[in-house]
Amino acid sequence: MCGIFGYIGHQHALPILVEGLRRLEYRGYDSTGVAIDDGSHVQTHKTVGKVADLKAILPETVSGTRGIAHTRWATHGGVTQGNTHPHASTDGAIHLVHNGIIENYQHLRRGLSARGVDCVSETDSEVLVQMMALELQGGATPLESVQNTLQHLRGTWGLCILFRDHDLLICARNGSPLIIGQGQNETFVSSDPHPLTAHTQRVVYLDDGDVVVINRESFQIKTTKGLPVEPSITVLEDAWGEAELGDAPHYMYKEIYEQPDALRQCIGGRVDREMGTGRLGGMGLDHQTLVQAAHIHLLGCGTAAFAAEIGQMLIEKMGRIPATTHISSEFRNNDPVINPKSLYLAVSQSGETADTISALKEIKLKGGQVFGVVNVVGSTVARLCGRGVYIHSGPEQSVASTKAFTNMVAALTVFATQLGRTRHLSKADGRNLIRHLQQAPHLMETYFEDIGPIHEAVDLLCEADSVLFLGRGLSAPVAKEGALKLMELAYIPCLAYPAGEMKHGPIALLEEGSPVVVVAPNDHLKEKTMSALHECKARGAKIILIHEKGDPIGAEGDVSIAVPAIHPWLTPLLTVLPLQLMAYETALKLGRDVDRPRNLAKSVTVE
Ligand code: AGP
Repeated sequence: MCGIFGYIGHQHALPILVEGLRRLEYRGYDSTGVAIDDGSHVQTHKTVGKVADLKAILPETVSGTRGIAHTRWATHGGVTQGNTHPHASTDGAIHLVHNGIIENYQHLRRGLSARGVDCVSETDSEVLVQMMALELQGGATPLESVQNTLQHLRGTWGLCILFRDHDLLICARNGSPLIIGQGQNETFVSSDPHPLTAHTQRVVYLDDGDVVVINRESFQIKTTKGLPVEPSITVLEDAWGEAELGDAPHYMYKEIYEQPDALRQCIGGRVDREMGTGRLGGMGLDHQTLVQAAHIHLLGCGTAAFAAEIGQMLIEKMGRIPATTHISSEFRNNDPVINPKSLYLAVSQSGETADTISALKEIKLKGGQVFGVVNVVGSTVARLCGRGVYIHSGPEQSVASTKAFTNMVAALTVFATQLGRTRHLSKADGRNLIRHLQQAPHLMETYFEDIGPIHEAVDLLCEADSVLFLGRGLSAPVAKEGALKLMELAYIPCLAYPAGEMKHGPIALLEEGSPVVVVAPNDHLKEKTMSALHECKARGAKIILIHEKGDPIGAEGDVSIAVPAIHPWLTPLLTVLPLQLMAYETALKLGRDVDRPRNLAKSVTVE
C-alpha cells in the first residue's frame, strides 16, 4: 500500500533512499518524500507525485548517513503536499513514515488537541509522531516514546522513525510488512525484500508487535512491552527474474512476455511425467492428507481470486472433491465455518494482501490447514502458512498482474493433478495433462510470434462506454480477469459474466456497436458459448472472439484472435494472453500510465 525505506550506516543516505523508493514505488505512488539527518538538522524533501517528481526537487547533494523515505497510497487525507510523508513533530525532534491504518486516530487527535498539540495534516500517521514527541518531551527515551505511543493504538502500522537528537532509527511492525536488511556496519529498512537485494541478502522479517532499535553497529528487536526478541536471519535466495525494466517499454509489457519463462520456472521440477502427477514438495502434503481432505477452499482477491476459481474447477474435475473459492474480504467477515479436515489455499502474488492475511488468521485460529500459493518469498502469507508453493514468477512490478496469474493457475493445476492422482485420475490422463502443461510455455511463445489483430480489437475498445466479457466454465474466470485488466488499466467500465447468464439481464446493455469479448476455446462448452455470441450479434454487438487457432468459429468474430490448441483444462494459460495485450494496448492508446494506474497500488496491505 505504501512503501517505506530507511537507512543508517556509513554511506550517503540520499541516493540509497531514493533508489529504495524507486523499487518500492509500485506499492503506491500518490506522493513521496525523504527525511535525512545532514549532521546539523533534519532535511525533509517531499512532493505530491512519483519518485521522479521527488528527484526533480532534491538538492544536488545532501550529506548525512541516516534517513527515512516513503511513497504513499492515500488512505486518510487527500493527495496533498500537507499529507505527504515523512511527518514531523511540531518541535522537529521526530520524523516518521507509516504504512497502515490507525483506526482510533480521531480519538487520539482530539487527545493531542486537548494537550495543545494541533496536527497540520489530515493523516492518521501524523498523530503518531506528535504523540511520540510529547513522550520524548516528558523525559521518555526514544524507545519508550515509541512503546508508550503504540500502547494506545488500534489498527495496523509499519513505522520507521528518525530522532533528531539520537543517532538511531526505530521501527515497529503490526499488520504492515517491514523487513530489516543487515549490511556491514549499516542497516536497511524496507516494506518488502525487493529493494534490499541490492545491498544485502541477510534480512529479518519483523513480526507483529516487534519494535526495533537500530544503531550504527547493530539492531535490537523487542516486543511492545520491551521483552527482547531473538532476530531470525533469512538469507534471500537469488530469485529468478530481472527486476530492472531493461529495454522494455513498460514493466507490464516485460512481464507479459516473460510468461513462458516464468511458467517454466513454476512447473520445473514439480511434475512427474512418468507417474503423471505433481510434486509440490513445499505443500508437505502426505498421501493421507490428500485422500482424507474433505473440501478444498481457495482464498484470494482480484486476479488471485480469478486464478483460484480456475484452480477450484480443476480440483473438482480431477480430485472429485468439493472445492470453493472465497473472496478474502468477504470470507473473513462472514464468520466462516472452518473444518479442520479441509485444506485452505491462500492465493496471493504479494503475500501481503491484508484481506487474505486476515482470512488466514481466522482459519488458523479455528484449526484449518492453511497453504500459501504465493510469489514473494518470505511474505506474510508464506510465513503464516509455513508451507505451500512459491509460484516463481520473478518480481512482478506492474500493478496489473499478468505473469503471476498464469503461474498461479499453473501451480493450482499441478496441485489438482497431484490431488487427482491420489484419487480417481488415471495415470494416462495425468500423463496427458502433464505433457500438455509442459508444452504450455512453448505454446505461449508461439502465440507471441503472431498475436493476431489486437489493434483492431483495441480500436473497438477505445471507443467503448463499457465492455461485456463472456466465457463459460474455465473461461468464465478468464473473462473476469480480462475485464479486470481493461478496467484497471484503461479505466473503461467492464462487466464479466458467465456466457449462459448474459441473457438473464446483461443483454439489455447491448446496442448497435457494443463491443463484447467472447472467450471460446475448443472445449465441451464452445457450442453453448457460441449461442451467447449469436445472441449478442443479433443485437448489433461487435464481437471480439478469442478462439483456438484453426477453429472455423473464427469466422464468427468481428475481430477474431486465435491462440494455439492445448488440453481443454489448460486453455486459460493461453486465452488470457490476448486479453492482457488488449488491455495494455488500449491503455497506451488512451494515454494511461500503464504501470502505475490511477488510484491503484500493487499490494493492498490495508483493509
Ligand atoms: C491485479 O491486476 C490487481 N492489481 C489486483 O486485483 C491484485 O490481483 C489483488 O490486489 C491481489 O493481490 P495479491 O495477489 O498480491 O494478493
